Amino acid sequence: MNNTLQAVAASYRLGQRLLIDRVSVSLQPGEMVSLIGPNGAGKSTLLRMLAGFLSPSEGHCLLEKRATERWPRDLLAQKRAVMRQQSHVEFPLTVREVVTMGRAPWPGRAKPSMIDDVMQLTGSDVLANRDYRQLSGGEQQRVQLARALTQLWHDDGPQGWLFLDEPTSALDLYYQQHALRLLHQLTRKGQLTVCCVLHDLNLAALWSDRMLLLHQGCLVASGTPQTVMTEETLTRWYQAELHVHHHGDVPQIILQR
Ligand SMILES: Nc1ncnc2c1ncn2[C@@H]1O[C@H](COP(=O)(O)OP(=O)(O)OP(=O)(O)O)[C@@H](O)[C@H]1O
Ligand SMILES: [Mg+2]
Repeated sequence: MNNTLQAVAASYRLGQRLLIDRVSVSLQPGEMVSLIGPNGAGKSTLLRMLAGFLSPSEGHCLLEKRATERWPRDLLAQKRAVMRQQSHVEFPLTVREVVTMGRAPWPGRAKPSMIDDVMQLTGSDVLANRDYRQLSGGEQQRVQLARALTQLWHDDGPQGWLFLDEPTSALDLYYQQHALRLLHQLTRKGQLTVCCVLHDLNLAALWSDRMLLLHQGCLVASGTPQTVMTEETLTRWYQAELHVHHHGDVPQIILQR
């Protein structure tokens, strides 16, 4: 239990507004967890709080039993990486340079072979010499995934806690499958935990071990995709009209016309 990342009755307040309302959750090593919920539910805020960018106004966020705000910044950056909903680069950098920036928290020069491996795995190798700012939205997302994985890379693969805010929102079908398969596969070794905000619940259901459903800052449902993705739960919290079908043990949604 020492090697977990936990929120314990954690709230986040901004002025009068309670953006996160007493959320308790624990992420285990090797898990792939998706954070779902309607627009404005607080997913990005909770992700940033779990990742240690925001300190809870009440309650605690603990990484390996120590409050995230008490971790030295450089050590924390070697343990967890974050891919944000939007990432801008101000300067004319090549894709390879952007990916290499993931090594900033580590001493010494980045091993070129490590950068090559991660770029190849994420499909950003074909973009290596392009100016990052000229890439399409989906191409930029592939590169940001590579940068985040690079930050956590060790000799035998990534280790630690990887937080991703809508990492597939701009990806085409091929790269949606490619990115989530890759992340899922990397978590199976038990050394990487992935916590990922996803709006596409069908993608979330295919690759998540667990889903956390947020609504107005509260955690209102959590469990396997089979337990969370029911017509009753989704209709109640999203107010959308839908059917849930089962492909083997994987629930998939079809919206009603
Ligand atoms: N800096 C801020 N000032 C005021 N309100 C904020 C701020 N940041 C977030 N909020 C509000 O907090 C709520 C939660 O925001 P958050 O970005 O976490 O939602 P989300 O679940 O990620 O939504 P989306 O699916 O649209 O990305 C929203 O109502 C948002 O307007
Ligand atoms: Mg968001």
